[in-house]
Amino acid sequence: MQVGEFLYEGKAKQIFATDDAKVVLIKYKDDATAFDGQKKGTIVNKGIINNRVSNLLFQLLEKEGIETHFIKQLNERDTLVKKLAIIPIEVVVRNVIAGSLSQRTGKAEGVELSEPVVELYYKNDELHDPMINEYHIRVMGWATTEQIQEMDRLAHEINAVLKQFYDSIGIILVDFKLEFGLYEGRVVLGDEISPDTCRLWDKVSLEKLDKDRFRRDMGKEAEAYQEVVKRIEAVLA
Ligand code: C5P
Repeated sequence: MQVGEFLYEGKAKQIFATDDAKVVLIKYKDDATAFDGQKKGTIVNKGIINNRVSNLLFQLLEKEGIETHFIKQLNERDTLVKKLAIIPIEVVVRNVIAGSLSQRTGKAEGVELSEPVVELYYKNDELHDPMINEYHIRVMGWATTEQIQEMDRLAHEINAVLKQFYDSIGIILVDFKLEFGLYEGRVVLGDEISPDTCRLWDKVSLEKLDKDRFRRDMGKEAEAYQEVVKRIEAVLA
């Protein structure tokens, strides 16, 4: 597999073409941003950890019959994935009140929800990723009714698998964000699932092991990310 031209740079990743038109290479960076890029920094070895965490979780999901874009990890920071036509929607799944749900409802962080809550956001930095609903998605032509239903079904399935897995390594999966795309007409899970895109709390101490440490200037981000990958590798590697 030959690495081709540079295609795109996101906040945490770069994407390169390959000699296979259906495959792209993701390179994970250490750059960290929050609040639509207003806060910038780096977390030591974050790219290496997120590449590893994401790929181990994608392989766990594949084993459970959930298709992801993962093909093969090449090295510490580089992974080959299926080239998806990205659906510009961020699907957030919540098990426990935190972050923007806490702000939006005035309810305290840490309260367990009686059932998972799925939220939809339009992926657009300039507009600050506004929350939208399935009517907006359909009418704006971002996805069809069937694709929206499939994303919802997959979001619940992925949550069930990941929530149970994290519980088995002493971590509460508070909430997380997913992105999907189309591959050969199918809705396939893309992007990453990592401490950048999830809220992960230690089950006993409730210590935050995710990007909230960076967002809230709590320090010890790298140590928290290391702790997550260590616990995951102990079971999945
Ligand atoms: O900020 P909020 O509470 O809505 O975030 C919910 C979850 O989605 C968190 O785990 C957060 O890390 C993730 N998220 C993300 N990318 C965004 C927005 C939220 O990974 N653009």
